[in-house]
Amino acid sequence: MDETKVPTHVAIIMDGNGRWAKEHNLPRNEGHRRGTKTLENIIKHAAHIGIEYLTVYAFSTENWNRPQSEVEGLIKLLRRYLDQHIKKAPSEDIRFNAIGDIFSSNIPQDLRDKIIHLQEITKDKKGLCFNMAFNYGGRNEIIRACKSIINDILLKHIDDEMVNEEVFAKYLDTGHQPDPDLMIRTSGEIRTSNFLPWQLTYSEFYFTSCLWPEFTVQEFDMAIDEYRRRKRRFGNSE
Ligand code: IPE
Ligand code: IPE
Ligand code: MG
Repeated sequence: MDETKVPTHVAIIMDGNGRWAKEHNLPRNEGHRRGTKTLENIIKHAAHIGIEYLTVYAFSTENWNRPQSEVEGLIKLLRRYLDQHIKKAPSEDIRFNAIGDIFSSNIPQDLRDKIIHLQEITKDKKGLCFNMAFNYGGRNEIIRACKSIINDILLKHIDDEMVNEEVFAKYLDTGHQPDPDLMIRTSGEIRTSNFLPWQLTYSEFYFTSCLWPEFTVQEFDMAIDEYRRRKRRFGNSE
C-alpha cells in the first residue's frame, strides 16, 4: 500500500455479526465471537500500516435492550479480550483506552477493574492507540462532558468564559486525541447509530455491505484507498 495520506485516526462501526450468524445457521453469539477475530486482525493491520488511533464501536448504550443472553455473551467476550491482552501487554505495543460510560452501575465491577488495569499497564505504549467504545453513546458522552465542565466551573478550575469548542472536546472521552479522519461501517447500514457525533463532524464516511465477521484487511485497505482519493475541504473553497 502507498503510505502517503494514511489516515491518522480510523473509527469503525463493527456491524453485522447477527446477520452473519443467521446466514450460517449459528447462534448470534457465535457471530460476535467471529467478530472479535476480525477485530484482532484489523488491530494488527492498522498498527502495521501506521494508523495512530483506531476506535471501534463494541457495545452501545442502546445495546442493553438486547436479550439478556446476548448481552451476557458480549460481556463475556469483552472479559476474555481484556484477560488475553492483560497477559499479552508486555509484548504488545498497543495503548488500550476505553471510551463510553464505564462507571455506569450496569457494568460489572470486575470488568471495570480489568478495563482500568489494561489502560494503566499500556498507558506508556508508543504504538497504536486502540479505543474501545463500550457502553458508549454519543449523546451520553456529551451529557457527561457537560456535567464535568459544570463541576469544574463550580470548583473554579475553569472560568465559563473559557469554554469553547477546543476546551469542550477535551472533556469528551476522546480527550486530547485528533478526530477520526475516516469512519467505516460494515453490514450495509447507512447510519451512525449514536457513534461519535461530535468527533465525526468532518470525517470521511465509508460504508460497505460486508458483514463484520467477513471483513478482511483487504477490505480495510480498500476503505483506506477510497479515503486517499477523497478531497477534504473542511468548509473551505478549493
Ligand atoms: C454488531 O453486530 C455487534 C454489536 C452491536 C454488539 P450486530 O449484533 O448488530 O449484528 P446485526 O446488525 O444484528 O447483523
Ligand atoms: C451499532 O450497531 C453498535 C455497535 C456496532 C456496537 P447496532 O446494530 O446496535 O445499530 P442499529 O441498531 O442497527 O442502528
Ligand atoms: Mg447491528
